[in-house]
Amino acid sequence: MPSFPQFRPRRLRRTAALRRLVRETWLNPAQLVLPLFVRSGTGVREPVGSMPGVDQTSVDELLRDAREAASLGVGGVLLFGIPDRKDATGSEAWNDDAPVQQAVRALKRDVPGLVVITDVCLCEYTDHGHCGVIKDGDVDNDATLELLAREAVSHARAGADIVAPSDMMDGRVLAIRSSLDMHGFKNTPILSYAAKFAGPFYGPFREAAESTPQFGDRRAYQMDSANAREALREVRLDIDEGADMVMVKPAGPFLDVIARVRDETTLPLAAYQVSGEYSMIQAAAERGWIDGERAMMDSLLAIRRAGADIIITYFARQAARVLRQEQQA
Ligand code: PBG
Repeated sequence: MPSFPQFRPRRLRRTAALRRLVRETWLNPAQLVLPLFVRSGTGVREPVGSMPGVDQTSVDELLRDAREAASLGVGGVLLFGIPDRKDATGSEAWNDDAPVQQAVRALKRDVPGLVVITDVCLCEYTDHGHCGVIKDGDVDNDATLELLAREAVSHARAGADIVAPSDMMDGRVLAIRSSLDMHGFKNTPILSYAAKFAGPFYGPFREAAESTPQFGDRRAYQMDSANAREALREVRLDIDEGADMVMVKPAGPFLDVIARVRDETTLPLAAYQVSGEYSMIQAAAERGWIDGERAMMDSLLAIRRAGADIIITYFARQAARVLRQEQQA
């Protein structure tokens, strides 16, 4: 390898055309997924205070957002539901007429080109806000599996293209796979939130999804942020149980984990740029402390560069717009 003055790395940075030619990593709207929050009613659009640009909507309004995303080339949507009623087991989660199930049917009818992914978890549906049923003050793993399986089957019955369990119970991928197969949904893939870390970055989401735990926190089921080797064990377990795709979450603070999981598996790898990552950029941009658009694009590029195929991000539409402008430029 020759060194200076024979070799000058700046030669390839001189023009935009040269930089474009040697660019190693590209973002594509087809691999962005937009999370959406759906509740009952019509004409409902409730802004989420902690997430500027994100709303809770009824199904009719959700269709407008989804159509816009599809027209920008965004690959898919990830649905979260806000139920009318919460109870101890989260039983609205497997109600075939609840907002998520209605939204799935409407999306498959009206925006068929978009991949519809549903988040499978109980925290939005339980009155205590935990991701499973409580026994003796603790989230009971095995009693929760059956309920998650019912929820996943209900989503598949509505027509979901992919179900995505985010609860972090042990054995849930196997339980969901078995139940889907038994109910005739052998072709419904599972995107497992395989390495999901507990922490502060989900704060704004809990306002959006109305899913704040009423006591304690999620550290007895979500992973400890310090553990990268354990993330690989979680990924291997979920793959053994039948996951078709795996996810690392959050994304930006866990780029090393994304890179290690990339080396570990040939399956499609998703990363979730979560609410806190989104809101930090939005808040700094609102104050004029950062160029929000460039920070958005750099944060997404970093996640791609680390090795994620698919990025779940609240920026999906804005990023798709920027990518389209870049292409036309
Ligand atoms: C449900 C779930 C959460 C997120 C996705 N699915 C919240 C949590 O675990 O508390 C967070 C997404 C985000 O912060 O954007 N368990």
